[in-house]
Amino acid sequence: MAEASWSVGRVAKRCGIKISTLHFYEEKGLINSWRNAGKQRRYKPDVLRRIAVIKAAQKVGISLEEIKQAFLSLPDKRTPTIEDWQVLSQNWQVMLDARIAYLQNLRDYLTGCIGCGCLSMTKCPLYNPEDVLGKDGVGAVILDKPAITLTT
Ligand code: FES
Repeated sequence: MAEASWSVGRVAKRCGIKISTLHFYEEKGLINSWRNAGKQRRYKPDVLRRIAVIKAAQKVGISLEEIKQAFLSLPDKRTPTIEDWQVLSQNWQVMLDARIAYLQNLRDYLTGCIGCGCLSMTKCPLYNPEDVLGKDGVGAVILDKPAITLTT
């Protein structure tokens, strides 16, 4: 029995997305298709699950590159199963918790900067162009530390 295949229009309609979005996802390596004898794109029905995962992940701020890496981590690049989705979403939850903590820290520091204006290279967490804190680590070193009250 021949494997079921869906046209790009049918997939787009079923998922509520534009055809151009499907092409974009395919360009990014998130979904796959093949061409039939008439050179039209065809998709396996499980592409719907892939698109559901993509849309759900995007809603919580996961980038397309992160989604792609998650898909690539699956055996044989398979479409995520229910169990795969549980693992992927748990990993993303850990990542999102870290991002939330980072943003809360940033918000707390920004509060200290509002009305300050010093933009000091040694103490302002939002301005450190010479990376004077590089000796303490890589990245936004101040933001990785617990929030403190900034003074001018
Ligand atoms: S402007 Fe950021 S600490 Fe002064």
